[in-house]
Amino acid sequence: MSPVREMKALGPEDPKDHFANLAIEGSDALDEIRNELIRTHGDGKNRTEKTWGIQEAAVMVGRSVPWLRENDPDAPKNEVGHGRWTLGRINEIRDKIGTRVTRPAGAETLIIAFSKLKGGVGNTTSCAHLAHFLAKMGFRVLVIDFDPQGSMTQLVGGVNPDASIDMEDLPNEALLNDPKSLQYTIRKTYFHNVHLIPANQMLQDLELGLNQQFMNENDDEFGVPFHKRLKEGLEPIKDNYDMVLIDCPPSQGSLTMNALGAANALINPIRPMLLDRASYVMYTRSLSSFYEFNPDIQIKYHRLLISQFKNVKDPIMQGKAIRKLYGDLVLSNTIMDSQEIKNASGRLETVYSLDRPVGGRDSYKRALHSLDSVFNEMVDEIFYLWNMEAGNDE
Ligand SMILES: Nc1ncnc2c1ncn2[C@@H]1O[C@H](COP(=O)(O)OP(=O)(O)O)[C@@H](O)[C@H]1O
Ligand SMILES: [Mg+2]
Repeated sequence: MSPVREMKALGPEDPKDHFANLAIEGSDALDEIRNELIRTHGDGKNRTEKTWGIQEAAVMVGRSVPWLRENDPDAPKNEVGHGRWTLGRINEIRDKIGTRVTRPAGAETLIIAFSKLKGGVGNTTSCAHLAHFLAKMGFRVLVIDFDPQGSMTQLVGGVNPDASIDMEDLPNEALLNDPKSLQYTIRKTYFHNVHLIPANQMLQDLELGLNQQFMNENDDEFGVPFHKRLKEGLEPIKDNYDMVLIDCPPSQGSLTMNALGAANALINPIRPMLLDRASYVMYTRSLSSFYEFNPDIQIKYHRLLISQFKNVKDPIMQGKAIRKLYGDLVLSNTIMDSQEIKNASGRLETVYSLDRPVGGRDSYKRALHSLDSVFNEMVDEIFYLWNMEAGNDE
């Protein structure tokens, strides 16, 4: 017989209280991290807007450093007297000198659903980085967080979804009862021209509510089927943006159906792993049945995006297999598995919003290079599409 000793509790006596306490303690710990970030990044309540130094600002404007210094001498200075440019200011200069990229007149706003079946494939991370990349280029972007986990709301909104987002901030009421009122849920973020419809756990009520309306067959209440509410809600809003990015949850429920119901483009992040490929096969089957029941929906742009790629044997092999199977549908460039991308997420930021590298400068540069190459490839293809729509000759 082993001697009697103090044992750790093996299971809770009262599971309800047990998990309630874990939730409270966990949430408090996260609050502390977020509050610290907000303290160091902002005015104590909201994150301050991202700004750029003269080197980067000049590149973004499309002129030399001396040109920018001479033509915009009044840019606000930091504590050591160096000019700092907000994206708003950079866009004003771009507009003045004609270097701002814009969606061609006559081309439609692209509404991209970032969707997948599996969790952890890099959906939210890729989508958040694309949002900041596009805004930095000069586009106007609306991000819709459609995952009750609220990860996008943390990364792009810079807020604590549990503490700072109330029921009335969510799209629940709009999508259940009055889609045209969706615009009241849009908020600005710390990144100029990236607007957000936020999420938190209470978004699950929307999923359930939509399911219920579908089951009760009173989804015709206002003539809009349960999976077309987001599309209806975006109708009066979408022209204010060049791109709308929807971050879908890892499920095929009514939220994802609404994202697909609204989207005219689809990006599917996939990791170069056999299990991810298997899950993607299942996903293509369910996409096929969704579009079978929705023959009116047109997808103008569909790409697979290999994410968390590593330059070692197995991922290389899996990456090749994905390309062999799906050919041109796979973006040529990949998002690398990058410590700096993880570092940025750990600070509730993207690599584009970081003020300075978290890890080494090389790792930061490699991350940026990998992200830039993927997103530039996407933007090139999207411009090709837009120019066709607008009737512009290439
Ligand atoms: N390119 C990447 N390099 C390194 N880590 C990544 C990368 N993309 C995502 N991650 C990490 O993987 C985890 C899952 O990513 P996330 O974007 O939340 O996936 P999903 O939205 O598909 O569930 C997160 O911890 C995130 O920081
Ligand atoms: Mg996610």
